[in-house]
Amino acid sequence: MPTDTPYVVAHLAVSLDGKTDGFPLDRSRFHQLVGTTWHEDATLAGSDTVLSQEPTLIHGAGPRDPGPLLAVVDGRARVTRWEELRAAGHWSEVLALHCRATPPRPPGRHVPELVVGDDQVDLAAALRAIGRRPGVAVVRVVSGGRLVGRLLAGGLIDEVSLLVHPVMGMGARTWWGEAPPPSRSLQLIDSDTFRGGLVWLRYRVA
Ligand SMILES: NC(=O)c1ccc[n+]([C@@H]2O[C@H](COP(=O)([O-])OP(=O)(O)OC[C@H]3O[C@@H](n4cnc5c(N)ncnc54)[C@H](OP(=O)(O)O)[C@@H]3O)[C@@H](O)[C@H]2O)c1
Repeated sequence: MPTDTPYVVAHLAVSLDGKTDGFPLDRSRFHQLVGTTWHEDATLAGSDTVLSQEPTLIHGAGPRDPGPLLAVVDGRARVTRWEELRAAGHWSEVLALHCRATPPRPPGRHVPELVVGDDQVDLAAALRAIGRRPGVAVVRVVSGGRLVGRLLAGGLIDEVSLLVHPVMGMGARTWWGEAPPPSRSLQLIDSDTFRGGLVWLRYRVA
């Protein structure tokens, strides 16, 4: 892990077989752990996660101040509801992460953007830039696995946090995404159990 990047944690709800979809999540416990554990300064989100969750985010109470930055890896410029995301009540500001191959943005779009990488967003460069922002020490990754997999492959994740649900997932996604399953050793740093058979596992990525 380069020293000029922030502490990066990926927190995912998973089934016993490592899936991130196709089972009922305990959202309340998932978000309670988010709110009490890392106190992120920035949220790094996959575009597919943002697009799938936009419908539940659009009735926000306005930007959260102080609150974390929302940075979305959006190399194809598919995310459009930036103002609504900023006003969702979870973040103070938004940042679009693009690459040089990103299609032209609509004229008049007022979204801060960072262009890093040629064909895809350069995740290491993006994290370095986010980490250089004042007050950003901790970044939480929000993804169903594909972004997590790319970050793991690049050695860019410090901690993997899995809230394991006692079911087999019926979905297609695993928490390590489309990259090969993690070969790096994971060192257990904490664990806990909760009502309903949930097990929380926190691993440091070696
Ligand atoms: N169980 C959980 O904890 C949990 C958490 C969050 C979301 N979810 C669910 O998971 C689903 C979405 O997750 P997902 O895993 O399909 O997608 P995702 O991780 O949200 O999005 C994929 C991201 O990976 C980026 N990416 C892929 N390859 C890359 C590369 N080589 N270099 C740089 N960036 C790359 C994509 O960028 P581009 O846009 O530039 O292609 C995109 O931002 C939704 O259904 C959501 O509800 C579950």
